[in-house]
Amino acid sequence: MNLKIAVLSGDGIGPEVTLQAKKALHAIGVVYNHEFVFEDAYIGAIAIEKTGKPLPEQTLNLCRNTDSILFGAIGDPKYDNNPEAKVRPEQGLLQLRKELGLFANIRPIKAYPKLMNSSPIKKEVLQGTDFVVYRELNGGLYFGEKNTNEAGTYASDLCEYNEEEIIKITHLAFKEAQNRRKKVTLVDKANVLETSRLWRKVVTKIATEYPDVTLECMYVDNASMQIIVNPRQFDVLLTDNLFGDILSDEASVISGSIGLMSSASIGEKHSLFEPIHGCYTEAKGKNIANPIASILSVALLLDHFGLDTESKKVIAAVEKAIVSNVVTVDLKVDSQFGTNEVGDFVVNYILNEGDLYFK
Ligand code: IPM
Ligand code: MN
Repeated sequence: MNLKIAVLSGDGIGPEVTLQAKKALHAIGVVYNHEFVFEDAYIGAIAIEKTGKPLPEQTLNLCRNTDSILFGAIGDPKYDNNPEAKVRPEQGLLQLRKELGLFANIRPIKAYPKLMNSSPIKKEVLQGTDFVVYRELNGGLYFGEKNTNEAGTYASDLCEYNEEEIIKITHLAFKEAQNRRKKVTLVDKANVLETSRLWRKVVTKIATEYPDVTLECMYVDNASMQIIVNPRQFDVLLTDNLFGDILSDEASVISGSIGLMSSASIGEKHSLFEPIHGCYTEAKGKNIANPIASILSVALLLDHFGLDTESKKVIAAVEKAIVSNVVTVDLKVDSQFGTNEVGDFVVNYILNEGDLYFK
């Protein structure tokens, strides 16, 4: 296969973790005879610095004309708590998601047997957890009209959804459930919000088209508790943009570090693969950031293009790194490896199933 991939490594630790993802993808190309051509472009704070815009036209054009996108991280603390900042790095990613119609964000959550002690949650609770969040990515509070008054004493964000937006992601979620444990949990706040009531109505109707899949509805406040006290109950967790953002960070505690969590953002024509973590600017350039989220995004990319064996190979390489304790400091195991070293281990495993550090 021949794929042209836009690489938007962005800000903070983005470039260094994305580099490991590129290394892994390149190694897969070598072993399985695929050609992956990378083209870099700016997004986020670095793009504002270079061009004045968080998503320059050149970047958007490149993304429109590539087969897929690898994304790193976005943001810079200098824009936080700065009311004067008119443009924010994050706008680049939000605009990209919207422009490319990336409406479904898929975030797998898993407890690794080797990492039970990396999570503050008890082993008995974690064991066997394996679910996936389907987060709607083009609507809701993120994209509704925003207002502030001149005095700076009032602000509003409108939460809107239409039936079409809900229908699209719901079908994807139910199809995924059919290949898994056949359960969809819709997470909403239907006791309070009109948008949530619309979600329930639409999703309940679609559920009748998938008689083999059970639909359960859960309020988001309860879900945030259930994710910690009984995460095994979830299979496919379907939810809106903001709830999905919050709950997936919470769920990352299950695996032991947000640095392990990858995601796929899927649209009708385009696809983007990214870690769910942020820019972690304090760690930039220190070779301590966990590259696994970024490397697992490559596994999601390969899977998306039907390269199942290749995708499994990347996952196997990551799992081998984890069982060999070749992981970064965030996982709190005894050994400590750098960003680059974890990447090298994965590459070495892909190329010759080798164990780079323990011969
Ligand atoms: C994520 C991030 C983004 C979001 C930010 C960077 C805009 O937190 O992908 O989860 O809120 O969607
Ligand atoms: Mn987030």
